[in-house]
Amino acid sequence: MDKFVITGGKRLEGTVAVSGAKNAALPAMAAALLTDQRVALHNIPRVRDIATMGRLLTHIQADVEIPEAAEGAVRIRTEKISHAEAPYELVRTMRASVLVLGPLVARTGYARVSLPGGCAIGARPVDLHIKALELMGAKIETEHGYIEARAPAEGGLRGAHIVFEKITVTGTENVLMAATLANGETLLENCAREPEVADLAALLVKMGARIEGAGTATIRVEGVGRLGGAEHRVIPDRIETGTLLAAVAITGGKVRITRAEAAHVAAVISKLSETGAAIDTFEPGTLCVEGSGQAAPADVTTQEYPGFPTDMQAQYMALATQADGTSVITETIFENRFLHASEMTRMGADIAIEGRRAVVRGPSRLTGTAVMASDLRASAGLVLAALVARGETVVDRVYHIDRGYERIEEKLSKLGARIRRVS
Ligand code: UD1
Repeated sequence: MDKFVITGGKRLEGTVAVSGAKNAALPAMAAALLTDQRVALHNIPRVRDIATMGRLLTHIQADVEIPEAAEGAVRIRTEKISHAEAPYELVRTMRASVLVLGPLVARTGYARVSLPGGCAIGARPVDLHIKALELMGAKIETEHGYIEARAPAEGGLRGAHIVFEKITVTGTENVLMAATLANGETLLENCAREPEVADLAALLVKMGARIEGAGTATIRVEGVGRLGGAEHRVIPDRIETGTLLAAVAITGGKVRITRAEAAHVAAVISKLSETGAAIDTFEPGTLCVEGSGQAAPADVTTQEYPGFPTDMQAQYMALATQADGTSVITETIFENRFLHASEMTRMGADIAIEGRRAVVRGPSRLTGTAVMASDLRASAGLVLAALVARGETVVDRVYHIDRGYERIEEKLSKLGARIRRVS
């Protein structure tokens, strides 16, 4: 199992490019199941979750090409689907596998997808995906740990009026994909407004779908008989962008972040600015960030987009340990998403967890030790803490970080960080 060995104390300087968004790439790949034509996707990050989605689509009998070089387009063609199933082995390692549910029932009338089960950061059910598909006429049974969905034999899925009880990103994406091939109009309310949803809709529209309102809370879809092939470039990864911004804010230094989309990280920019980082978004696609010598404390509450992302909470906590005063971090999206706090405490941080709130008192003098990554974003938080810790930190189980960050250690070391991977 790979580890990162990090020696803290270096300011970051230089230029770094952001990769494509993993969370936009995954639904885009699933969308390729909706057509028998070829879908070519650009800017797909070469991370482990993408390889997992590739394996899943291959299992479904799609022809998937993922060239090693990130510049190469990922090409997917699903002429026939003879195996509409997402097996437990794959869903277990990547919850987003559930994204094939909507496209499979819509295209073939049948899908069998393993229930995701427990997850380090909370229960994370898929009940809202299921309820919405039921409203579209699907008969759904959950047995033996699998969701089995069947569209009506006559006419397939039909348009429906769906109001999500709770905002769900992959739920919105799943149902949006299913609605493109349903009979009639689907009206979706209380949708996730994440840029990844809008990006998926942009791809679907290129494939021939009729969608209005994606990126807002209300999406209207007029079902069509069939979808065709398309070519699409996915948006930059806003969480990677935010992670790099926080890395500079925590270490001091000055970095240009290119191939980014500033509008997608507005809440992060605003919070980091409050802590004293100077962030300039003058040049389109580029963010220039300069860390202050001493961060100021600032409270933060995670929210759905356009609020402060839960996927940036661990990285922000690392920064809060260095702020001069108390920062209260409130997590509203996932229960049990403070697993990184105990590891940061072992490094010398002063963090008290009270239910959904973490009270972080800084500045703490962090010291390097062996820490364990528990999930994707928690690992990023630990890497950031290690960048300012005195001495050497060994971050174990970096396969979590490899799920979603493309060559993060190369990017950070090019900026001057002392970080290396050991196998
Ligand atoms: C997506 C992101 C993930 C991010 C999360 C929240 C992808 C691949 N992953 O995950 O990185 O952390 O959004 O921004 O895009 N819920 C239910 N029932 C459901 C679905 C969700 O109760 O059927 C709850 C969840 O437990 C959670 C909340 O709704 O408390 C939000 O979850 P959701 O937006 O669905 O997260 P994901 O789409 O899984």
